[in-house]
Amino acid sequence: MKKLLMVLVALALVFAIAGCNKAPVKPKIGVAIYKFDDTFMSYVRNQIEAAAKDKIELSVQDSQYDQPKQNDQVDQFLTQGATALAINLVDPSAVSVIMDKAKAKKIPLVLFNREPDAADMAKWDKVYYVGAKAQQSGTMQGEIVVAYWKAHPEADLNKDGKLQYVMLMGDPSNTDAKFRTEFSIKAVEDAGIKTEKLAEDTAMWDRVKAQEKMAAFLTANKGKIEVVFANNDDMGLGAIEALKAAGYFKGKKYMPVVSVDATPPALDALEQGTLLGTVLNDAVKQGQATYDLAFALATGAKEIKSDVAPLAKADGTVDPTGKYIWVPYVKVTKENYKDFKK
Ligand code: BGC
Ligand code: CA
Repeated sequence: MKKLLMVLVALALVFAIAGCNKAPVKPKIGVAIYKFDDTFMSYVRNQIEAAAKDKIELSVQDSQYDQPKQNDQVDQFLTQGATALAINLVDPSAVSVIMDKAKAKKIPLVLFNREPDAADMAKWDKVYYVGAKAQQSGTMQGEIVVAYWKAHPEADLNKDGKLQYVMLMGDPSNTDAKFRTEFSIKAVEDAGIKTEKLAEDTAMWDRVKAQEKMAAFLTANKGKIEVVFANNDDMGLGAIEALKAAGYFKGKKYMPVVSVDATPPALDALEQGTLLGTVLNDAVKQGQATYDLAFALATGAKEIKSDVAPLAKADGTVDPTGKYIWVPYVKVTKENYKDFKK
């Protein structure tokens, strides 16, 4: 009996040790955000953190709009033994520096939100991108304005048949800013409506800067502006502040403002009737897909995938060998904003 017990104990020990040896190293993912002080990115970051909770070792750093700082953060992640990286580039055109660092250590890289050139993406097979097709968001903004313009003949203030607009741009070097600016106006023109740009300037995705720019636009174009396009909600909300200060949204004085993101404060503005429309830039899905890919890569999973959306090519074609995850945009107006309120 005693012998049997001893054998059992020995066996248990053997299994325990074998089990220990097999215990997988906790995956370690290093995340850098271009700057924490960006409303949309804070929602993406929240989702990455929620998805990673208790599952992996996660380090999330604020790159403070400083590419050299972000490069240093990547060096640190690598020395600390990260098994995958998820990077929201400060300057997408500087991607090669970070890619070379990751490549040298054979640590896979997931980029998100600030899209690098497809040519750069093609330089390594272990680099992925999670984002949304900026052209689509621009087109949707334009479509919201077209529907409004057609339903409201009084929107053509000077009755010249043309739509006079101002444009508040995000960081002009950014793909999202470029394409939203271009495709929003293209959609209006494609609907047969002539446009005239009264002013266009960057407010760097920032609410306060946009408020200042909009106040200046209003002074320089008294009574002439018929529509305000903003590349994101923060800037749209800044413009609304400036408009309120100039007496808009009281009585009959109205200005259609369209933006992108569908952040909670933008949904409130939709409810209050100050924001005409926005486009859902799905922070939750983008954060989740970023985490899913980084986790799969960090753990050497056989299949690199996310349930959020399938892998695709740069052009959007679904393809299991693709390195992109494109999260679709959704038009949000007063008809459906309630569906997006949490
Ligand atoms: C969002 C902006 C954000 C920017 C940061 C865009 O996709 O719409 O709100 O500031 O990403 O890169
Ligand atoms: Ca007009």
